[in-house]
Amino acid sequence: MAGHIEALIQAEQPIFEADIIDGKAFAAGLTARIKVEVAEIRSNCDKVPGLAVVLVGEDPASSVYVASKRRETQAAGMSSFEHRLPDTTSQEDLMELVRQLNADPLVHGILVQLPLPRHLDADAVIEAIDPAKDVDGFHIANAGKLAVGQNALVPCTPLGCMMLLKDLLGDLTGLHAVVVGRSNIVGKPMAQLLLQEDCTVTIAHRHSRDLASLTRTADIVVVAVGRPEMVRGDWIKPGATVIDVGINRVVQDGRSRLVGDVAFAEMGHARAITPVPGGVGPMTIGCLLSNTLEAFRRAQARDRASAKENS
Ligand code: GUN
Repeated sequence: MAGHIEALIQAEQPIFEADIIDGKAFAAGLTARIKVEVAEIRSNCDKVPGLAVVLVGEDPASSVYVASKRRETQAAGMSSFEHRLPDTTSQEDLMELVRQLNADPLVHGILVQLPLPRHLDADAVIEAIDPAKDVDGFHIANAGKLAVGQNALVPCTPLGCMMLLKDLLGDLTGLHAVVVGRSNIVGKPMAQLLLQEDCTVTIAHRHSRDLASLTRTADIVVVAVGRPEMVRGDWIKPGATVIDVGINRVVQDGRSRLVGDVAFAEMGHARAITPVPGGVGPMTIGCLLSNTLEAFRRAQARDRASAKENS
């Protein structure tokens, strides 16, 4: 061991002491637990949690995401309903499909894959989804519930980040968390979740002054900005935990590779870091299945309550 360390020092490489957070393994455990729960539901009643995914157009990346959502949904034992619509689909036709899915008792979760073609109004489509079936957690009713600490369906990516943080650190009370990025999909809900865990939360964004001096004060740094390797080693305090939500394709020396928003190789002094790929990314579909199961359970509870009321 001593020889190994000496070799690293001689090679003038900083020693990498940070734990590498294995999101892939964590997500596999999460989906395995969901699979067991779905099998129990199937053996106890004639209902099955169902997820409907809507894809408009032919975007290749979206097409790959939707295919893997279908595969994982089916593997978990849930019903998967896929709706692929042409990119000439009108707003009215898309809204009509959402209305049909809202009314369909076999569908407990609805996800409209984003981005939508430019002629479509994504906000209006999201607002048309029944908040009880909004497994993306994008509806303003769910965003509002999250903000006031009520039982919301929470966006999948920040939910996955929070699961990893709690698993690693346990109690987050009093820790200073800096969230870099203020999107409705990641940054804002992430900040709300951290606040619920009694962290002191700073939200930084493109107009923040001296970003590095802000992140340097943090115990937890979550980065979701879509800028390859923007966060450098000297932006991070020794012992801090770094969650990298970015997935960026870069071409270097004629070779293409995926990198995060954080310069991973410079994070050896951190307590822990999520790699890209294999960190936050794999958690997202697991959380989507978790939200679908949660939406199913709440629907069952509502059905039971209304049956009791009518009896
Ligand atoms: N496109 C990329 N990620 C997502 C996601 O989490 N939800 C939806 N609806 N679209 C996406």
